[in-house]
Amino acid sequence: MQKLFAVIGDPIAHSMSPLMHNDLFGVYGINAHYHPLLVKKESLQEAVAGLKAIGISGFNVTVPHKERIIPFLDYVDPLAGSIGAVNTVVNKEGKLHGYNTDGTGYVAGLQTVLPDFKNRRTLVIGAGGAARGIYFALAAAGLQHIDLCNRTAEKAELIKNECPYEVQTTVYSKDMAEKELSQYGLIIQTTPIGMSAASQGLPLSLQRLDSKTFVSDIIYNPLYSPFLLQAQKAGAEIQNGLPMFVYQGALAFELWTGIKPDTNRMKKLVLSHLG
Ligand code: ATR
Repeated sequence: MQKLFAVIGDPIAHSMSPLMHNDLFGVYGINAHYHPLLVKKESLQEAVAGLKAIGISGFNVTVPHKERIIPFLDYVDPLAGSIGAVNTVVNKEGKLHGYNTDGTGYVAGLQTVLPDFKNRRTLVIGAGGAARGIYFALAAAGLQHIDLCNRTAEKAELIKNECPYEVQTTVYSKDMAEKELSQYGLIIQTTPIGMSAASQGLPLSLQRLDSKTFVSDIIYNPLYSPFLLQAQKAGAEIQNGLPMFVYQGALAFELWTGIKPDTNRMKKLVLSHLG
């Protein structure tokens, strides 16, 4: 019988995960289908019970359900539990197991271009769900110095205080981070600034950026945010959010099938649909 996979979220129509996973099922000869499902906030518990009842093989979870789904799962992986968010669910003999491949996906993508990332003093800009996943995954991977800078400092303090992995962190104001900028070997931009016409500009000034700093942004639509373009102008090496998106999908696919998929193929496919 054909296996069923899905992504649940609201909105969901724009998701490129169905494209990516259905292509992989074809490539690896797996009789399965991946479907986007619109699930409203108030229907999450019922939807998860329904997916379990029909024996879904696995699903992804996106905005606004990543945190709220945790109480409805049978098991949560320790990294996902500490982050407090799940983006991948695997049905193992009728029990729903939750994982987080967003942060680890970011780290896997970074590793391909910056194998020495663990030795780099790092600054994460933003303190939302994405920043939290990336910060925890980097700390779990052994990065020792990660500073945080967020419009709302309390949210950055929470990330620092709730991280179970050993890591050195200072929470900086925007002004202080701008002053310290040349000290960083790696800067990671996680806010939505630059993603749409409604939120243009830069999250902080790159005036003091050192050209040896590696600058990454989790935005991939547009492919190059104003922040990345500015960093590139200053001579820095840059990476956009496409590798994070591709690797979170690749890690989810591996959890479901045991197969490490061809990430170059995935990247090309997503790129061809970004226009
Ligand atoms: P995600 O789950 O994608 O990380 P989120 O949880 O809404 O999204 O987090 C968005 C992050 O971008 C937050 O750190 C937010 O700052 P606050 O914690 O102060 O809300 C940051 N952010 C969003 N818009 C911003 C803006 N215009 N200027 C500065 N920071 C912004």
